[in-house]
Amino acid sequence: MVTLLENPLRVGLQQERIPAPLIMVIFGASGDLTQRKLVPAIYQMRRERRLPPEITIVGVARREWSHDYFREQMREGIEQFSDGIDSEETWQEFAQGLFYCPGNIDEPESYQKLKEFLSELDEKRGTAGNRVFYLAVSPNFFAEAINQLGAAQMLADPLKSRLVIEKPFGRDLSSARLLNQVVSRVCKEEQVYRIDHYLGKETVQNLLVFRFANAIFEPLWNRQFVDHVQITVAETVGVEDRAGYYESSGALRDMVQNHLMQLLCLTAMEPPNSLNADSIRTEKLKVVQATELADVHNLDLSAIRGQYTRGSIKGKSVAGYREEPGVNPNSMTPTYVAMKLLIDNWRWKGVPFYLRTGKRLPKKVSEISIVFREVPFLIFQSAAQQTNANILTMRIQPNEGISLRFEAKMPGPALRTRSVDMDFRYGSSFGISTADAYDRLLIDCMMADQTLFTRADEVEAAWQVVTPALTVWESPTDPAAMPRYEAGTWDPAEAEKLINRDGRRWRRL
Ligand code: BG6
Repeated sequence: MVTLLENPLRVGLQQERIPAPLIMVIFGASGDLTQRKLVPAIYQMRRERRLPPEITIVGVARREWSHDYFREQMREGIEQFSDGIDSEETWQEFAQGLFYCPGNIDEPESYQKLKEFLSELDEKRGTAGNRVFYLAVSPNFFAEAINQLGAAQMLADPLKSRLVIEKPFGRDLSSARLLNQVVSRVCKEEQVYRIDHYLGKETVQNLLVFRFANAIFEPLWNRQFVDHVQITVAETVGVEDRAGYYESSGALRDMVQNHLMQLLCLTAMEPPNSLNADSIRTEKLKVVQATELADVHNLDLSAIRGQYTRGSIKGKSVAGYREEPGVNPNSMTPTYVAMKLLIDNWRWKGVPFYLRTGKRLPKKVSEISIVFREVPFLIFQSAAQQTNANILTMRIQPNEGISLRFEAKMPGPALRTRSVDMDFRYGSSFGISTADAYDRLLIDCMMADQTLFTRADEVEAAWQVVTPALTVWESPTDPAAMPRYEAGTWDPAEAEKLINRDGRRWRRL
């Protein structure tokens, strides 16, 4: 019998791999994530023969759906949110492996029923007891589901069962610690896959290759040559229909503690000893542990928040956050956060990392810019308005790629310089678009490769970094104290001040 870990086809992180036959059990199967991301990603991978024909999905949710109704819903998801169904034959074969098992997350009987059903499927589908339990439910139910899976002995075999937990992992340091305790009571850390979908993005992984497969950048990658780093994750979307979740989360929990911290880690970490999951995760942990707000005693000097007001995005007028359906008209939930962080270690001491993220900004763009120190003395006339510093930008999305800004002589008799960009684009260099983050993460988890998943200690350390801001921002304040920005415009004035105070400015993207 082949277990998940014994799969003879299992090879290293960087190669094409096919996991052993298994059942993926998705809790929260009637939700958006299952229909939009998870099942379309699994279908796509099966279609490309990256998953074995025995691959089986069991959806679990409260609604009384039949297997056939679940299959229809999933088909709709594939048609609407991915490349669609390529052939009726592939779909039929895939659909044979889709099942639905109604159940309540807090009812032990539901788990017993599920357990029996999974054993029957093992016989039918040849999945050999291999299971991945995916918690695509509201974070409020994580602990309950994990406890119940533990009580039903469904995570007892570390070689055959794994647990995937969506973000957010906890809502602050103490709840993350509690959740980690629940997890560690029922299974081993080697079975746990805490998802941060940013780590599944091709361009985010390319950061490792860029830094550690090229000799010319690493010598410059430190306090001696780098003036500061800017990490931006800007979105044009507003809260959409997620007020229920977002109102109690906000930009700091939703984006900074996880996605932006991951980008910071991969930018700032030391070279790991190998591609081994724990080598990489240990280096990331060291970065987070050394990171703190620039001035923890004076929050205004290191973190600011903001909330969008009515405005227009791409010519279309949009509501302000407090007017969105389901949002408290006096809400103090930030939809924008900017921070100045410092990393206290030999490489980065004194180099500020400025992070910003917001909803309803003019453009969807995520990038990391390493801004190098300026030349000590410029003998040429420069056409630059602001700075002639070299800037290395890693564009996470869209137009995925890397560019290096440097000075060049402007044509003409005068010796004047202007900044120009040297550009690498994924699309034109490789001729294919980058894969969806979920494909990568799902297959890694099926292959027991934890590299791109957050370890318990790292998730807690990341909460520690944002705790001073959470504490101040969540103490009762007058709703008028919330800085505002008009939807469709860049950073609130306070965010400008945060960086201008240091004689620097946000990049205009
Ligand atoms: C999610 C957040 O984790 O990431 C959303 O909950 C956000 O609020 C999304 O919109 C952004 O992801 P991406 O991949 O579109 O940059």
